[in-house]
Amino acid sequence: MTALLEVRGLRVAYGHVQAVQGIDFDVPAGEIRTLVGSNGAGKSTTLLALSGLVRAQGGSMRFDGEDLSRLKTHQIVERGLVQVAEGRAILTTLTVRENLELGAYRRRERRSVAQDIERVLALFPRLHERIDALAGNLSGGEQQMLAIGRALIAKPRLLLLDEPSMGLAPIIVQDIFRTLREIHRDGLTIFLVEQNVRQALKIASFGYVLESGKIVLENTGAALLGDARVAAAYMGG
Ligand SMILES: Nc1ncnc2c1ncn2[C@@H]1O[C@H](COP(=O)(O)OP(=O)(O)OP(=O)(O)O)[C@@H](O)[C@H]1O
Ligand SMILES: [Mg+2]
Repeated sequence: MTALLEVRGLRVAYGHVQAVQGIDFDVPAGEIRTLVGSNGAGKSTTLLALSGLVRAQGGSMRFDGEDLSRLKTHQIVERGLVQVAEGRAILTTLTVRENLELGAYRRRERRSVAQDIERVLALFPRLHERIDALAGNLSGGEQQMLAIGRALIAKPRLLLLDEPSMGLAPIIVQDIFRTLREIHRDGLTIFLVEQNVRQALKIASFGYVLESGKIVLENTGAALLGDARVAAAYMGG
């Protein structure tokens, strides 16, 4: 069976910098998979290539069998490949509700959009409490929740997340990861990019370790968590 997302030999360069050097990975429907690695490994570049925000130099990316390299970003989003960008690109001068409504800007059926917003607010009670607050006045954790909530409103078939734990206190990180598990249980397929290797491998069924643009290890999340090389390199020994 073919995976929902299939990437083969993906290469991306910025000028002379070979950021991604021929990587292969799959995300089968129904799974959480993760791509972990440290600063500058090429994680964000990989996600940007999937969303058509940087151009791949080589290789193939197929989503539900369709070649992504032929599509524009908005078409990729319409197919259901939706990204929560690094640094939570929310609109700080709009309210929480307005940000959520933006997630639906390509959808016509207002009624089901309203229902989806209710569902997101049930998932993130903190956002419900702050529905009329300006997004810029939210805490970092609340902003991350808003960015995820907005992506959910866009009706993803595969949700791409770029370091949702970045800059957040451990207790908030726990909260975010618990919610990701919940969304996954409800049926969503997730591809998670993280420097927080331990947390990411805990929720992922399968993980890929990226170093300097190359995948150096891949295995089940449990196996990588127990791998001495992973522990030494990413989890403080
Ligand atoms: N716009 C750019 N122009 C030139 N080089 C870039 C650009 N963006 C990233 N790079 C380089 O590409 C490589 C991969 O960067 P990338 O941002 O994909 O890493 P990352 O794994 O997401 O790192 P981090 O965990 O810090 O977010 C790095 O060497 C980086 O310096
Ligand atoms: Mg990054």
